[in-house]
Amino acid sequence: MRRPVHGGNLVWAASIAGCPIEDILDFSASINPLGPPESVLRGIQGAMANIQHYPDPSNSELKGALSRLHDLPPDWILPGNGSAELLTLVGRDLAGLTATVVVTPAFADYYRALRGYDAKVVDSPWQLFLEEPGGVATSRGISSELGVRSEILNTDICSRLGNGRNFVNSRECGLIVNNPHNPTGILFKREAIVSLLAKFRMVVVDEAFMDFLPPAQAESLVEMVSDYPNLVILRSLTKFYSVPGLRIGYAIAQPPILQRWQSWRDPWSVNVLATAAAVAALNDRAFQKQTWEWLPLARQQLQQGLQSIPGLQPLTGAANFLLVRTNYPATQLQQLLLKRDRILIRDCLSFPELGEAFFRVAVRTEAENQRLINGLKALIQEIY
Ligand SMILES: Cc1ncc(COP(=O)(O)O)c(C=O)c1O
Repeated sequence: MRRPVHGGNLVWAASIAGCPIEDILDFSASINPLGPPESVLRGIQGAMANIQHYPDPSNSELKGALSRLHDLPPDWILPGNGSAELLTLVGRDLAGLTATVVVTPAFADYYRALRGYDAKVVDSPWQLFLEEPGGVATSRGISSELGVRSEILNTDICSRLGNGRNFVNSRECGLIVNNPHNPTGILFKREAIVSLLAKFRMVVVDEAFMDFLPPAQAESLVEMVSDYPNLVILRSLTKFYSVPGLRIGYAIAQPPILQRWQSWRDPWSVNVLATAAAVAALNDRAFQKQTWEWLPLARQQLQQGLQSIPGLQPLTGAANFLLVRTNYPATQLQQLLLKRDRILIRDCLSFPELGEAFFRVAVRTEAENQRLINGLKALIQEIY
């Protein structure tokens, strides 16, 4: 079986661990362990009778709920079959531009979406923490406990584009950036991205993990869409509400872009169960509050536990996962931990800049985090 590109491939993990998939403790997919909320399960149950009908092709109920949440007109929102579907539409649009700058390390699906339409891709490596000479990966250039970054993004991208004979005018280009950033967990300040909006023809900000920050700490660009016709924001319900199997995400942008995308895709991308689940989830304030209260403490516990293991250096992150620098080859650790403890961590081979020197883990419940910490500690003591 081939090594998976994404996290959460339990079939692959179980084949290595030699156990049923239910026995795997999955730290590889960054999914909220408190979910899915009861409200979502009830919403799905209540919608069962609707599977005998086609979904509403205009998604009016879900657009209505999202429009109230974001205080935007419904036609500024396009729900999709996961944000992955919307990324495919992004790829088609960006393929029409001179090139698209991708801030790396980057989620592998950006490349799938862009290359699927033969888009020209310019990587913009953003790698300050990688340059630390064997040192601590958490501190340099990071100004707060959430790892908020501001200036670096802008400088790195512009120096990359203005590169001698390869000079590309950024105004003819697209840009994809992810905030909070997967896999580092770093949160870019809103201003760091806003300063790029005037420099690119289209800027796509993937905010798949932004919900994990309570509104007062979020650095979302949703409020900027009315000022920037070239701005697209992608959001996902997958991670926060723990519904990767349902496939539900949405894009926020000015109507001409979204109308174009709607005309390119099939009319019923979001099925009736996903719609009901999404509407229930968005109204579940108690679950949102519970997650915002759980995450900071659980993340701190996990970070401190990992930090206490010789040879591991977790980065400070703002989302529900941590990137960990490792002195031991990450894929070897992954395999041994699977076989020994049936715990799956995410290798970073799909991020070529990171390779064997890093792995990523989701923040899970405190008991599960402790199982991971104990497992890694014992394994590393035993083997290395
Ligand atoms: C940064 C990022 N964006 C988008 C997605 C896709 O999410 P969805 O399940 O909504 O397609 C993922 C999934 O891992 C992700 O990590």
